[in-house]
Amino acid sequence: MARILLCDDEKNLRDLLILALEDGGHQTQEAANGSQALKLLAEERWDLFITDLKLPDISGLELLRRAKKMAPERPVILITAHASATTAVTAMKEGAFDYLEKPFSIEDLNLIVTRSLEQGALVKENVQLKKVLKEREGQREIIANSPAMRQVLEMAGRVARTDASVLVNGESGTGKELLARFIHKSSKRAEGPFIAINCGAIPENLIESELFGHAKGAFSGAVSSRKGVFVEANGGTLLLDEIGEMPMNIQAALLRVLQERVIRPVGGTGESPVDVRVITTTNRDLIKEIEQNNFREDLYFRINVVNLTLPPLRDRVEDIPLLVTRFVEIFARQYNIPIKGIAAEAIDCLIRNPLSGNIRELQNLIEGAVSLTSGEQVELATFPEHIRREKAATKASSPASFQLPIDGINLEKFMLDIELKAINQALERAGGNKTKAAEILGMSFRSFRYRLQKLNVGD
Ligand SMILES: Nc1ncnc2c1ncn2[C@@H]1O[C@H](COP(=O)(O)OP(=O)(O)OP(=O)(O)O)[C@@H](O)[C@H]1O
Ligand SMILES: [Mg+2]
Repeated sequence: MARILLCDDEKNLRDLLILALEDGGHQTQEAANGSQALKLLAEERWDLFITDLKLPDISGLELLRRAKKMAPERPVILITAHASATTAVTAMKEGAFDYLEKPFSIEDLNLIVTRSLEQGALVKENVQLKKVLKEREGQREIIANSPAMRQVLEMAGRVARTDASVLVNGESGTGKELLARFIHKSSKRAEGPFIAINCGAIPENLIESELFGHAKGAFSGAVSSRKGVFVEANGGTLLLDEIGEMPMNIQAALLRVLQERVIRPVGGTGESPVDVRVITTTNRDLIKEIEQNNFREDLYFRINVVNLTLPPLRDRVEDIPLLVTRFVEIFARQYNIPIKGIAAEAIDCLIRNPLSGNIRELQNLIEGAVSLTSGEQVELATFPEHIRREKAATKASSPASFQLPIDGINLEKFMLDIELKAINQALERAGGNKTKAAEILGMSFRSFRYRLQKLNVGD
């Protein structure tokens, strides 16, 4: 059922059409002239607007223009007594969905109404999808402040100026794809395509055609030719995710393409040049895979011209407060929930137990927490129980977990390093506030200050 506004100055025709539309299950309202119609258009929500082209006060075309301005995605149908070709063309140009020429049958009306509503729904869906995509795009900023991440980003920025192949290492959810997109966006290829495929997710017998395309009839099922991601990414960047999953026989073909920069589609005859920057990711240890004969060494050297490693979240806990606060902001905005922030206790819990699923898990956790929040800030209570429980179970790093390495250590240096690390992390977490940092380390401000001087930390 749709809400339809009908504007016509002929009462008899109006009555007839309203009756037909309501028979079709729609909710309708009528206007006898242009100004009445404009008022109703402005005041209420309509799925479809049908108007006569000839009205006593303003022209139907003018009305169409104004209606389109108010809601571009809402379809408008015009009714005309004698459709001259020019009026029809103008109407369509101005955005009318279609026109009905008098006299018309109720079937004609119903058909056009149904089609216009279908199209209206599609356009609306499209507008909404675009909005979601745009929001996602916004979420693609890399949030990071830790020295480790700053270093990675700086290297990524530098390598973006070149066409060098980049291998991104990192555990699942550490932001490998995000980093690849960042390199693409910062490169001179930014306006070109960014294509990503997951080598682990494609059935082995289809990988070759997925990568290099195939000719029509190349194999049973190849009813038409296909481009392949190298061609799709031409002029841009190709991300080969989980390169460690690529079967050995395809690795040889890939190596050839990377070396010669030409592709030969499966079952095709010709070769065509491709201009693609290749970024690969892996969460496997490729050196080990080479030793076990699962990965070609020559391919490894080709893809690993520059190596970037994303540290797991547990090695950059300094980033957690920043990540968490930004995610809260982003999801609060996305879901239109008025949230001002997140409880310190909740951030603390995450710092103590950096999630093993890394940033992806953190992002999902905060999305869930935001959607459960009713007050002004996200509380620890909105976290799943297993995450809250771990908080109680773990007591920082326990000395019991210490294992003396086989070849021993320099104890004094080791202790100093640990002290320095603890102090720096405490300062970072306390936002530079020394009294707070001392508290975190369970010592008085005086002895904290003494240690800072001894270790030459800060000012
Ligand atoms: N530093 C960051 N700042 C903001 N969002 C991030 C950051 N790192 C990762 N994310 C987000 O976390 C999610 C996972 O990131 P991404 O897909 O890039 O990880 P990945 O390393 O490719 O994971 P996988 O190995 O599982 O494929 C994405 O939604 C991404 O936007
Ligand atoms: Mg990924």
